Amino acid sequence: MTNPRGDGLRPVADQSEDERGGPGSILSRQSRDHADLDALMRAHDAETDPDARGRLVAELAERALRHAFAEETVLFPAYRHHLPEQGEALTAHIEGDHQRVNELLVQLQDADPRSAGYDALVRRTFETIRHDARDEEDDLLPRLQRVASPQELRAIGAAWEVQRRTSPTRPHPGVPRRPPGNVLAGVPLAVSDRVKDAAEHLLGPRAARGAGRAAAVAGGALALGLAVRALRRR
Ligand SMILES: [Fe+2]
Ligand SMILES: [Fe+2]
Repeated sequence: MTNPRGDGLRPVADQSEDERGGPGSILSRQSRDHADLDALMRAHDAETDPDARGRLVAELAERALRHAFAEETVLFPAYRHHLPEQGEALTAHIEGDHQRVNELLVQLQDADPRSAGYDALVRRTFETIRHDARDEEDDLLPRLQRVASPQELRAIGAAWEVQRRTSPTRPHPGVPRRPPGNVLAGVPLAVSDRVKDAAEHLLGPRAARGAGRAAAVAGGALALGLAVRALRRR
């Protein structure tokens, strides 16, 4: 089946793994991760216990944020490189949706699953995440596939996966959605997010906020040190 807009693009969902460039290509990796995100949203909708729903939203948030951060730092720059004429408009549109997801997740982080308005907030977040996956699977990725070789699609997939594993784990709407701002901020934020995650796991949300602030300072110093060292090597 081709894209309903009549532009001849074949949605990722309609392609076999071979056609996508193999299991390691960015098309296959995105498709699998979008399916995992969708499964978490459906599990949330089938759950009736508010605490369990809150845990599912937290799991979804971390996974969606890692996925999007790796797109902003690896996939979208690669797309703009391969399609310099048309790349800007579509990636700017998707980055706008990522920004909205970051803002919604900040609100959800502090919301009580039993409170009025929580469900409406969850609905808007899920809708935006699903819309984002459609833009990528039906438009951005098939367009990239037209101009990039299967080897290039696999190289982008491998780089996206590395970035996804090392990315920040919490929403950061104040961080730029494009390199170099997001790349530079990503190192200290990934450190402080992981300290917060560990502190929250052991001590609860309030301790996590203090631990995160201390780690952000340490992470910022680490990033600055790495930047200075890189400049000296030039
Ligand atoms: Fe995305
Ligand atoms: Fe995606």
